[in-house]
Amino acid sequence: MKITFNPDLKLFRLACGEMEYGFAVNNDGQLMNLHWGAPMLSDRDYSLLLSDRAVMANGSRDCNSGEYRFGAPFDYAAPAIRVRFPDGAETLRLVYKSHEIDEDTLTVTLADSFYPLEVRLVYKTFADLPLISRSAVITNNCSGEVILRSAMSATVQLPRGVEWRLTHYAGEWGAEYERQQSRLGQGRIVLETSYLTDAAAHIVPFFALDEEGRSTETDGEVYFGALQYSGDFKIIVESQHTQLLKRASVTAGVNDFTSEIPLASGESFETPSLIVGFSNSGFGHMSEILYDWQFDHILPRGKKTDKAHAVRPVIYNTWYPYEFDIDEKKLIDFIPKAKYIGAELYVIDDGWMKGRSNDKRGLGDWFIDEERFPHGLRYISDKAHEAGMMFGIWVEPEMVNPDSDLYRAHPDWVLSEPNRERSLMRTQLILDMSRDDITDWTIDWLDRLIEDAKLDYLKWDMNREASEIGLYQLERGVAVKYMKNIERIWKHLNEKFPDLLLENCASGGGRADYGMLPYADRVNRSDNADPIDVMLLHEGYSTLFVPKLAGGAGNVSPSPNYVNRRVVPLEYRVNSGMTGSMSVGVNLLKSDQTELDALRDAVSRFKQLRPALQDAYVYRIASANEHPYSVLQYTKRDRSQFTLFAFAHGMHQWDKQLPRFRMRGLDPNAVYVSESGNRLSGAALMNSGISLNMFGDYYSHTETWRVID
Ligand code: DGJ
Repeated sequence: MKITFNPDLKLFRLACGEMEYGFAVNNDGQLMNLHWGAPMLSDRDYSLLLSDRAVMANGSRDCNSGEYRFGAPFDYAAPAIRVRFPDGAETLRLVYKSHEIDEDTLTVTLADSFYPLEVRLVYKTFADLPLISRSAVITNNCSGEVILRSAMSATVQLPRGVEWRLTHYAGEWGAEYERQQSRLGQGRIVLETSYLTDAAAHIVPFFALDEEGRSTETDGEVYFGALQYSGDFKIIVESQHTQLLKRASVTAGVNDFTSEIPLASGESFETPSLIVGFSNSGFGHMSEILYDWQFDHILPRGKKTDKAHAVRPVIYNTWYPYEFDIDEKKLIDFIPKAKYIGAELYVIDDGWMKGRSNDKRGLGDWFIDEERFPHGLRYISDKAHEAGMMFGIWVEPEMVNPDSDLYRAHPDWVLSEPNRERSLMRTQLILDMSRDDITDWTIDWLDRLIEDAKLDYLKWDMNREASEIGLYQLERGVAVKYMKNIERIWKHLNEKFPDLLLENCASGGGRADYGMLPYADRVNRSDNADPIDVMLLHEGYSTLFVPKLAGGAGNVSPSPNYVNRRVVPLEYRVNSGMTGSMSVGVNLLKSDQTELDALRDAVSRFKQLRPALQDAYVYRIASANEHPYSVLQYTKRDRSQFTLFAFAHGMHQWDKQLPRFRMRGLDPNAVYVSESGNRLSGAALMNSGISLNMFGDYYSHTETWRVID
């Protein structure tokens, strides 16, 4: 990684492995993007680009390659920043003021040419990863209030003259991360959410662009980016066509539809980061880059163990067996069974609080229900610990049921409008977490709960979206403050309890995003644990997120599954569970000895493979989106071993003419040996492949290959 500044050319270059990013100050003092893509050789390589951009503000040539678009004259693309100054003026002229290079970070300060408003653009690099993060810090030095009508994280410009295909991931509850692709013609495609929070339940704040849709999993250039934000976002992908050129750009950040941010005199607003990356060999390599970034740069570290690189414990979770219908006897009876099958972490899901035997009560009153649990939470925690397991519980801190002591005491604590009915979803209302006092209260009860119950693990859930948030609240920036305070709580938990494992759950995958990832050790991928559907879900999920985080209440799911009542053999369910952070949701109190032994064997096999599976890249060799089967290759990051997963369902005779499945990402010169004794070089595995005999329904197969000396 190298960040340089050439004072003669006023040129900034960020060289990040196989990606280079460059921009310069033009004759008018404005920042103009010059390059994002494969590396350049020298500053001289920029000379043509520089002369192209030399004249700008007078409307000639290129006025729309702004590095942080502010509505420069004759630039009609979506701006990254819009303001209202105290005197009502709404135009900006941001010019270069200074810059600072501090090892891996470049900060460029821009200032308005008239009003005392400053914008610091921050560029962070991550060793040699072809990826940078961008954010902006906007400071109001005017004597009165400035309204940020829009304060996006960044604008990025794509190579010119190209027809682009946009890829993003979207879906709904139980059907998250569906890959969606569209051609970007002249105009704008806007990916945005306005639910207040849990954006990823609908659209993951991510985009990828490839030229004319020509890139594949293995080939072609992919330009991609993602917001590190869990709240409402906006990603504007735009192509402007003029007589001279087709020019595409992306401007992304907090959604200005649900937020206007007031900045008092002297105040600053820091945007979330937008990561921007470049793959020179397809979407599969894009995933490798995103994985390296997660493993080595953003996942929480812990104190005793390096949590980012450590394996995730096998969980036994009480949700699927009994949902809310739990009591002390059942929970204690589970403990020896969970231990027997090899679970390492015992989790009590929803239903443990006072009156919480259904979804109508209990949220807000974070005390154990003494009627159903006469000896308290600590008693169950101690029993789990005595059995040699870790212990965790479920909470939903942002919510309250109207039938709760908390709501009766503080009806003013919820998000609402004075003259509107408070709409319920799952019989619950949302606490106004934009308020610092409510945030402090939350931190206080969470701290006590974690300490008193000796928790090793906390599953943070969030099960509804906002309503009745009117403009008066938007004006006071509630949407942004809400997310900042959620982040503040997670940060606090990480700092105060560095080895506590935190699961990020929002009705399944509602918060599967890079905003939550720096604080979370596990992500609920989806409430849909039906392993046939998981073939689809996991493709999208594993494109973006490391699989060791992929959880859920029981990804070794009960059968029939509660989402679609499908009955699936245990072996298939177990193999599916191995592809993520394993959690068992089978009702062990109803399992016979054969099932318990089968689970025990499966968990034990998983534990042997786990260090490699959870430190692996995932290659999607055959897609369930295109076939009635799915083949995944988990390759340990040091390339010393890989595990092949194959799942098939609903195979026809026609499907039996299967291709050989060519592996990826291996050391071509190494010899790999499989569990069944086959030996092949990496070159042969990649160039000739492996044949699989998949058939019928519920076919599943795993095989591990290791390098021999
Ligand atoms: C939704 C979560 O995704 C489930 O795993 C479970 O925790 C329920 N909420 C509990 O209410």
